This record gives sequence, structure tokens and C-alpha cells, in this order.
Amino acid sequence: MANRLPVDRCKDSWHTAPGGLVSALAPIVKAESGAWIGWPGTCDETIEPFAADGMHLVPIPLSCEEHRQYYEGFSNAVLWPLYHDLIVAPQYRRDWWRTYEAVNARFAQAAIETAAYGATIWIHDYHLQLVPRIIRSQRRDVRIGFFNHIPFPSVELLAQLPWREAVLNGLLGADVIGFQRESDVTNFRNASQRFLGISPDRVSNVLGAYPISVDVDAIREAAESESVARLSRQLRHDLGSPDVLMLGIDRLDYTKGIPHRLRAFEELLEDRVLAPETTVLAQVAVPSREGIGAYQDLRDEVERLVGRINGRFGTLERGVVQYFHQSYSFEATIALYLAADVLLVTSLRDGMNLVAKEFVTARKRRGGALILSEFAGAADELHRAIIVNPHDISGLKNGMRQATSLNGDDAHEQMAAMAATVEDNDVHHWAHSFLNDLQQPTDASSPLLKISTGNTTRTLQEVKHVGR
Ligand code: G6P
Repeated sequence: MANRLPVDRCKDSWHTAPGGLVSALAPIVKAESGAWIGWPGTCDETIEPFAADGMHLVPIPLSCEEHRQYYEGFSNAVLWPLYHDLIVAPQYRRDWWRTYEAVNARFAQAAIETAAYGATIWIHDYHLQLVPRIIRSQRRDVRIGFFNHIPFPSVELLAQLPWREAVLNGLLGADVIGFQRESDVTNFRNASQRFLGISPDRVSNVLGAYPISVDVDAIREAAESESVARLSRQLRHDLGSPDVLMLGIDRLDYTKGIPHRLRAFEELLEDRVLAPETTVLAQVAVPSREGIGAYQDLRDEVERLVGRINGRFGTLERGVVQYFHQSYSFEATIALYLAADVLLVTSLRDGMNLVAKEFVTARKRRGGALILSEFAGAADELHRAIIVNPHDISGLKNGMRQATSLNGDDAHEQMAAMAATVEDNDVHHWAHSFLNDLQQPTDASSPLLKISTGNTTRTLQEVKHVGR
């Protein structure tokens, strides 16, 4: 179960949506005759369950008002900024919270009705944090896992959320709660102690760090194909055959630190450390959550910066920043990784950042440099990257300078070492290790089997319905 179904609609047919999560879970769902429950991506439309690409799909309808309040509102204008260290201010609106509760109850009900006796239910991400407890209240026979793809905030930040106890309780309905980093596990443990009074040792055995990864075989296969190699040569040529090609590929999201990297790049041009005649920064900014004000503001800021840098340093032939507000196919993305010399990952906060893992996987035998923010989960594993603090523009400039002057042998050695780290934990390994842990029996005294309602704590046997 995830907010989105793993398919996109194109006219009258459905196509599997590209992405690591889908490539990891689709084979498991197919092999186990499982179902995927999620929102189909349209509003005010009821779609009956259907089969696509060998999977049974259960669409959860959302009205346009629910989409606005549950998805754009509570999920992406409250939880997303709160869990990403308040880069923008959350709006704690009670009507959004009520809709979040109602939509979570709808998702949970679909799982309750769909899951076979003794089934395993794996719930993904911050949109659905109340679902585990609601399912648990009605189905004692199922195993419930929850994986949070984004960071989990510190106690001091979570304290702001008026519904923090309900969210923690919702999650604690699961048998296993997975996070990207150990620091997220620590934050959750501290929060359940502070706000629910659960001692850390009682919750520890159900929490774990499971850093998500990428589909190494699929990336390697594309990277080694002749058509992608040809496309990458063409792209580099079309980008002006620069001596140095820097690349950024991100959803256009304020967590990604795109303005920070543009400012650092501009200063390096100003300082003449980078020559505008022979350097290009290609920035792909994939359109995202365009109905939300903070995303519209970010787009304005990024486009203003790109215009300013090109106005100052571009030539009649081309801009020094090549900016694309578009999304690209998997093959074109891999071709861009192969074409570039340096990838810039400057997130201000990021659960993992799979672009970094894709880049090193694609470039295993090609060298190149990865600039990686210390605030991305990937920094816990990719130690051989050039690690930067994106808030420190001078430090970021030093990192970018270092990346362009890396000696060829060092670059190869570092890239191969990082690629090997990703190979050891690819997305299939990630999925299986989570699901293996989910199969382990839960201790009967686990706090997860208890629910707190107001000031009292009761076991689940005593509670018939939780949520709505
Ligand atoms: C992040 C979230 C995912 C989400 C994705 C795209 O990676 O963790 O749950 O699907 O962003 O965002 P969108 O709002 O388009 O689903």
C-alpha cells in the first residue's frame, strides 16, 4: 500500500510507472498473488479494482477536495516540511487533519477487505501513518509493516504537530517500522518515549534502519547498452561539448537545495575558477506538486537564478546553465549520468536520495565525481563522495572545485568503491530484508499491541475500532 498506484494512465491503458520502489515490489506482489492499494492519480473518479502488468490493483478514490486537503495539504504542506526540518513553515490546519484521518481510514478499510487471512501488509510513507493502527484494530491475523521513505524529525520538531500522539499511535500499530537512517530510528524512539511514555527498550525491537536502494541490474544493463551510450554522446554534444559538464537531477522541491548549488556555481564563474566558455551546468528539475504555493515560489526563484546566471555568463551560442523543467525516461536519465562529469546532490534534508545511488551505479567503470550533501541519507553509505554542507556556500564551492580537478585514477577508484557499496545493498536486498524481519514473531508484551486512548492505555483486545 502506497499513496500512489505503481501505474500511470496513458489514454485507455495503464503502464507501470518507472522507479526503484516499483521495480522492487512489483515482482514480489506478482509472485505472491498480492495486491497494490493506492490512489490512481485522478480526482472525482471511482475506478474498480483491475489487473495491470500482472498485478491486482485496488484504486482508492479521492475527491478533488480530499486531494487538496489530504495530499497537497496535510501530507505535503504539513508533514513534508515538518519532517524535512521546517525548510518552509507547516500550516497546522484542523480541516486538513480531519481529511487526512478520513482518507487514512479509507485506505485501511480497503486493506482490511482485500487482505487474505494471515496476509502481510506493507504500508509505505508519510501519507498513510494512521493506517497500521486502524488495520490492527480489526485484523489480528495479519502482519503489518510500515516504511517511512522520508526523514523522521527530532522530538523538538515533532513537538509542534498538534496530532503527534495520534501519528505515533497510528504507526505503532505496525509489527515493524522501518526508517532510512539510524538517526530516524533514534528520533522515533525518543518521540514515543516523550509523547507516549513508552520506554526505549520496549519499542526498539520493532524499529529498524533499512536504507532503500536502486535496481542495480536494470541501471547497469541500461548503462552498458549501445543505444544509451549513443544517446549520452549526443546529449553531451547537444549541451555544447563542454570540458566540464555538471549535472543536477531533482524533483523541483525545496528540500533539494537547487538555489544553493546555483549560487555556488555563479560565484565560481564570477571568481573565474570555472570558465563559462567551457563549463555547463545541466539542471533537470522534474515538475512536482505544482498546486502548492511553496513549490510555485521555488520554481520562480530557480528560474530567476538561472536567468540571472545565463544573462551574466552565457554566450550568444548557449546558456552556461541548461535548465529543463521536464521529466525524462529512465534511459535518458542514465544517458545524462553517463554524459556528465560531476553530479550535484545538495539536499537540505533528504530521506535517502536515489539519484546519488543511480549515478554511482551507472558510472562504476567511468569515474566522475559525486558531490553529496551530508543531509541526504545516502551520505551514511557513500563515504567516498565529496561530502558538503549545502548551507555553507564557500564549502560547496570548494567541493565543486575539488570535483572538477579530481585526478582520473582517484575518480575511478572512488566511483567503483561507491558502486560496490550500492551493489551490496540493492533495492531487492532492501525489500527482502524488511520483509524477512516482518515475518519474525512479535513479542506478546510489545507496546505495539497496545493502544493509548486519551489518558488510558488498553490492549487491542479491548478495543474494537480505532480511528473512524
Ligand atoms: C518522495 C516521497 C514519495 C513520493 C515521491 C514523489 O520520494 O517519499 O512517497 O511518491 O516523493 O512525490 P509525489 O508527491 O509526486 O508522489
